[in-house]
Amino acid sequence: MSEIESAKTRALDELAAAGDAKALEAWRIAWLGKKGFVTGLMKKLKELPREEKPAFGQAVNILKNELARAFETRTSVVAPARNASRRKIDITLPGARPERGGLHPITQMQGHMITCMRSLGFEVVEGPEIEDEFHNFNALNIPPNHPARSEADNFYLSDDLLLRSQTSTVQIRMMETRKPPLRIIAPGRVYRPDTVDASHHYMFHQLEGLAVDRGLTMKDLKTTLVLFFSGLFGEDVEIRLRPNFFPFTEPSAEVDVACTFCKGEGCSTCQNKGWIEMGGCGMVDPNVFAAVGIDPEEYTGFAFGLGIERLAMRRYGIPDIRLLTENDVRFLKQFR
Ligand code: DAH
Repeated sequence: MSEIESAKTRALDELAAAGDAKALEAWRIAWLGKKGFVTGLMKKLKELPREEKPAFGQAVNILKNELARAFETRTSVVAPARNASRRKIDITLPGARPERGGLHPITQMQGHMITCMRSLGFEVVEGPEIEDEFHNFNALNIPPNHPARSEADNFYLSDDLLLRSQTSTVQIRMMETRKPPLRIIAPGRVYRPDTVDASHHYMFHQLEGLAVDRGLTMKDLKTTLVLFFSGLFGEDVEIRLRPNFFPFTEPSAEVDVACTFCKGEGCSTCQNKGWIEMGGCGMVDPNVFAAVGIDPEEYTGFAFGLGIERLAMRRYGIPDIRLLTENDVRFLKQFR
């Protein structure tokens, strides 16, 4: 037993002196190799009297483990590369190819829409998703008791704050901070507590557009929309404006695009109407200008708000809006 003790001291001293990979390997062979010192001790075990065997065997095992651990530690200091090569990496195996990602269909659709509007001279801006009543309602000429303000139709965070229910809020923010002429688009998320089904969600995306200048008319609005949709769907696209009401525009209209599948004949995509509703638009109401301090005698403007989900679902043939937020990779992969 005392031989084991002194051997251990000697072994550790020698190990501490081994300064390179070659010296380490020599040490390993001498102490832990097949014909090395520890193996020699194991052989001695057989010659011992029965009652001494257990204690001796245990001591040899402890020595072996201690030396092996000390060897690993020393090796990682002196010759780290030796450890790495012992991990048996087969460098001839082909590498694991990282999967290529892709943009979400909503992001792609939004990108196309932005490209089209930029080419018409519109600048992309953003506004906050948490809004106050002034920007979401008051300044947009939505009167105090209007049903659009009801608690059932909005996500209120406090008396005055809510998750915006429309991107029209960004029109107000831009007119407050900039002087006309203005040409902006604002893409982004909006929130409404709708019951979720195949075509409704409590969060969706809109693209808002606003132009303010001297002498803008409905003709400029329609021209902009025609150019925008022909950029998206091709030259021969047809649009129509259907009279409607929005508090923040006067006159207001609903924008329809002739169904791109049946060209107006009527099919399942357009529910046999021949036209697909894309959103709202109109000429900025003088009350809205008043709220942001723009003189309606000097300036006119047009605005529009389009649902991005609706466009993306039509374009990519997505049957259910919920697919867009479930993040099922099998679904998303198809849009790479
Ligand atoms: N904000 C409206 C909505 O969420 C859409 C809209 C209609 C936007 C008319 C406009 C507009 O800018 O002029 O339903």
